[in-house]
Amino acid sequence: MLDYDFNETGLKGKNLLIAGGTGGLGRAVVALLAGEGANLLVGYKDNRDRALELQNTLRTAHGVEIGLVGGDVSTAEGRSRYLQAVREMEGPLYGLVCLTGDPARVKFDQATDQDIQESMAVNYVGPILLARAVAEEMKENRTSGAIVLFSTMQAVALFDSSINYAGPKKALIHAARIMAKQWGGPDGIRVNVVAPGVNRAGMALSSIASGKYDFFVDEGIIPRFGKAEDIAKVVRLLVEPDNYLTGQVITVDGGLTLRKDLR
Ligand SMILES: NC(=O)c1ccc[n+]([C@@H]2O[C@H](COP(=O)([O-])OP(=O)(O)OC[C@H]3O[C@@H](n4cnc5c(N)ncnc54)[C@H](OP(=O)(O)O)[C@@H]3O)[C@@H](O)[C@H]2O)c1
Repeated sequence: MLDYDFNETGLKGKNLLIAGGTGGLGRAVVALLAGEGANLLVGYKDNRDRALELQNTLRTAHGVEIGLVGGDVSTAEGRSRYLQAVREMEGPLYGLVCLTGDPARVKFDQATDQDIQESMAVNYVGPILLARAVAEEMKENRTSGAIVLFSTMQAVALFDSSINYAGPKKALIHAARIMAKQWGGPDGIRVNVVAPGVNRAGMALSSIASGKYDFFVDEGIIPRFGKAEDIAKVVRLLVEPDNYLTGQVITVDGGLTLRKDLR
């Protein structure tokens, strides 16, 4: 007899804040977790119409309700709106998935002080301060749970001209590992990072459409471009209650950062 307890506890009834959940990758995360019965509060910044469309699609096509909250997580005012909405959820918060970010596509040699500070604010300061606020809320309610932050493959390997985006995203990884150490332990909070590669979704769509990444596939460096579902499944693993992962960076890139192109 194989007497294992795989203990795959579901997410049914767990409250999660999905910041940036209306974007290309976030929608798949929301679809997967909401479909499993998690109670989701989905955050966005500007595009309320898209958020309402997601809410409506989930309601009409899948019979699932999600809450919405708008606000810029890189501002104190925005984060406090998110926290207020979290407190209005029924029951304690179990976790946060923070997908907010900006591709900060300004080459370092052309970047102004303001470009670099703006990238830092949206790609680093906002996510870590939101994570801290959420962790404080969870600790106050004595709930254990999971936080997942979003970095990029560009913070895992070196990509030319990427300093303005990769620098803050690399700092985010370091911060997440310290959070995992500080907040972990029995009944603590697990903190992990997803570092996506090039996905046919969200902010990478325009770069894929331009053809500049075609050689990754044409030369067999990656088997295909990533899908939002690839990312959502990893998030699902990381928020699984009782799992044993913390302080890790999962690079979901089809092998791109192995740099088979650099021989
Ligand atoms: N797509 C990829 O292939 C890829 C590759 C590597 C890394 N990533 C990372 O994965 C994450 C998700 O990417 P994505 O492609 O899904 O991006 P996306 O389609 O551009 O969506 C971004 C989401 O974050 C929200 N958002 C952006 N800035 C915000 C802010 N300051 N405050 C609150 N919400 C904010 C957006 O809301 P509004 O639309 O309302 O503004 C939207 O919901 C990002 O952190 C990105 O850096 C993505």
